[in-house]
Amino acid sequence: MRKILIIGGYGRFGARLVRLLADEPELELIIAGRSKQKAQALCAEPAAATLTPLSFERGHDPAGQIARLQPEVVVDAAGPFQTYGKAPYTVPEAALRAGAHYLDLADAPGFVAGVAGLNTLALEAGRMAISGASSVPALSFAAARTLKPALASVETYTGGISPSPHARVGLSVIKAIASYAGRPISIIRDGKPCEAFGLIDSMYHNIRFDDADPLGLRRFSLVDVPDLLLARQIFPGLKALWFGAAPQPELGHSALTAMAWLVRLKLLPSLVPFARLMEPAASHMNWGEQRGGMFIRLTGLDHAGKHAGVSWNLIAEGDSGPSIPSIPAAALIKRLLTGEAPAPGARPAHKALELADFEPFFQSLSIRHGIVPD
Ligand SMILES: NC(=O)c1ccc[n+]([C@@H]2O[C@H](COP(=O)([O-])OP(=O)(O)OC[C@H]3O[C@@H](n4cnc5c(N)ncnc54)[C@H](OP(=O)(O)O)[C@@H]3O)[C@@H](O)[C@H]2O)c1
Repeated sequence: MRKILIIGGYGRFGARLVRLLADEPELELIIAGRSKQKAQALCAEPAAATLTPLSFERGHDPAGQIARLQPEVVVDAAGPFQTYGKAPYTVPEAALRAGAHYLDLADAPGFVAGVAGLNTLALEAGRMAISGASSVPALSFAAARTLKPALASVETYTGGISPSPHARVGLSVIKAIASYAGRPISIIRDGKPCEAFGLIDSMYHNIRFDDADPLGLRRFSLVDVPDLLLARQIFPGLKALWFGAAPQPELGHSALTAMAWLVRLKLLPSLVPFARLMEPAASHMNWGEQRGGMFIRLTGLDHAGKHAGVSWNLIAEGDSGPSIPSIPAAALIKRLLTGEAPAPGARPAHKALELADFEPFFQSLSIRHGIVPD
């Protein structure tokens, strides 16, 4: 049995990861979190893999817990990575020291970039430590790479995610959003690095391609994701850099923007203390079409020297969208099973996968994507 420890394994995206790997009979998936009862409930689902519940607190001696378990891979699907504090890498360090690979679903820019500080340890251990094996930055940059050949030079990078209104949001995601709502986020606009305010700064985009029923024009609000750091390295000299989220329905989105304004106007210090109240409110706002999407748009000069733009658009039908953040970690684990382990080392996930790696998952779910010139 090949042991995979999934911390946060019964959370929204941890559980999706478990289900994406459940068809692998050689895997033992250790579903870990602070409630053994919740882990046991997930273990009752049918699976070819062996599902084992585990009571696990990531803040309590993770090194000892991981050393005792001896997993082949440790996945941190818990979060919120924005709040991991002064010693944020205790789990990946413990994993590498125990001879395990490490993956996470992190979306905090500093955390994702900072994992590279474990590179020497990972190389010595001969293991990978990949941070952000999720929608951003793993899928977003895989998509951006497919757009790059259309342009001779890239001047702007814009992206966004619009989940289905029926996709239930976990407490960790709400805490993550609350941590930067109304706070300044570093972007690039009109050729200059500047700050704009989380969940307040907005733009519109219609996610559409080919013959797909378009998602319609949606308002995206600025979110703090690893792309806002990493795109500067991949596309030096960017004149604009922006990433947003369009939570649905728009009424809930507008309420979030209004709350972000309270922080922006210094009437509230932060929305973090309200995260637990926001979770049930978000889960009751679930009307509208059950479909979601994502886009990445690059503009720049084409090969004839003219200004041009091109976007990659994805539409996920029904309940398939919430599986997307878990696909990169599942794809990397399935790659290990076939003996194609990614190279050892610690790094962000933006170069870990290509769109082709997502395709088998997209085909088994109701997920389609396409490229559209401006
Ligand atoms: N990079 C991306 O594109 C991307 C996309 C989506 C989500 N994410 C990130 O994925 C993370 C998970 O999101 P989610 O919606 O699945 O959150 P969630 O539903 O709140 O799940 C979090 C899980 O972690 C467990 N957990 C929390 N604190 C823990 C601790 N100290 N020790 C052990 N387990 C703990 C929770 O269970 P207990 O509370 O019972 O312990 C729960 O099972 C978030 O940080 C989110 O930002 C990233």
